[in-house]
Amino acid sequence: MTGPAPIDLRSDTVTRPSPAMRRAMAEAEVGDDVLDGDPTTRRLEQRVAELLGQEAALFFPSGTQANQTGIALLTRPGTELVLEADAHLVHYELAGVAANWGVQIRPVATPDGLLTGDLVRAALRPESPHVPRTGAVAVENTHNAAGGKVMPLAVMSGVVAAAREASLPVHLDGARLWNASAALDVPPAGLARGAATVMVSFSKGLGCPVGSCLGFAARDRPRAWEIRKRLGGGMRQSGILAAAALYALDCNLSRLVEDHANARLLVDRLSDCPAVRPSHPESNIVMLDLQRERDTADTVIPRLAQAGVLVVPFGARRLRAVTHLDVSRQDVERAAGVITHVLA
Ligand SMILES: Cc1ncc(COP(=O)(O)O)c(C=O)c1O
Repeated sequence: MTGPAPIDLRSDTVTRPSPAMRRAMAEAEVGDDVLDGDPTTRRLEQRVAELLGQEAALFFPSGTQANQTGIALLTRPGTELVLEADAHLVHYELAGVAANWGVQIRPVATPDGLLTGDLVRAALRPESPHVPRTGAVAVENTHNAAGGKVMPLAVMSGVVAAAREASLPVHLDGARLWNASAALDVPPAGLARGAATVMVSFSKGLGCPVGSCLGFAARDRPRAWEIRKRLGGGMRQSGILAAAALYALDCNLSRLVEDHANARLLVDRLSDCPAVRPSHPESNIVMLDLQRERDTADTVIPRLAQAGVLVVPFGARRLRAVTHLDVSRQDVERAAGVITHVLA
């Protein structure tokens, strides 16, 4: 006899396409998008460009490739990219901006993951023949490593204003911009205002198997296309994947608030568990700090897995739990019970 399936809180990327999403994929009208175009992919790109308030968009196999393309569009080799110190582009893209584009990351430490206009100004070096020039600024909304921290509109406007003063373009890593939009009740285009390039993912909270888009000015499309091709990201019958994204925009976008409510529920249900201190989630990510000397991520995670709850380490004594489409309110209640029991 097998027990209940584990509750998988490792990431919002673990979702599987639903039967309805799979049907939309199976029925997609397709063409060869590297040769002469795929109609479903074009539809997705147009829709995403509108949603982001950008002139154009291009479909990518991954958020990493779309982020890398955005940085390539905005920078030149030998320049610096100003970023919050724990951004995805700093830690999880294998030094891509250095290896691919000859760009140095200028990490800016913040107490809470929020890069601000003042912090950007402070990071800009006075012009000198001895130091690198800054090429661009990048922000992440929501901020994954900061526990799904939402960058409010005023903070984004402040960063954009500081960048403008220095004639710098801004890239927005919006892998979870949909979550920020749901949390603030501000349309994605509002949160992207002033950004020259905007990356959004479909393979996270929206539940698609694959896919991200990069939004940009129409004049950048030919270069973005070339860069993607060089990175091996040209996809042929990509309409099958774009159809999943279109389905997700129709059916899964409006339910992200449920994931946010479930993240708060998890925290609420753990409030009586002294062994763990949960973060205050602003979106769908909860950080769990282990409070007892003897508990470490390495020892606790296998015990939780054994008991049917999957989470990932985010530091020696920090765990990350992410709510998503495939985790119900009941699952969250059960997960909180398991965590409390295992750490009792
Ligand atoms: C904030 C952020 N940016 C970019 C990415 C990269 O997306 P992908 O895994 O599709 O390459 C991720 C992935 O988790 C992410 O969390």
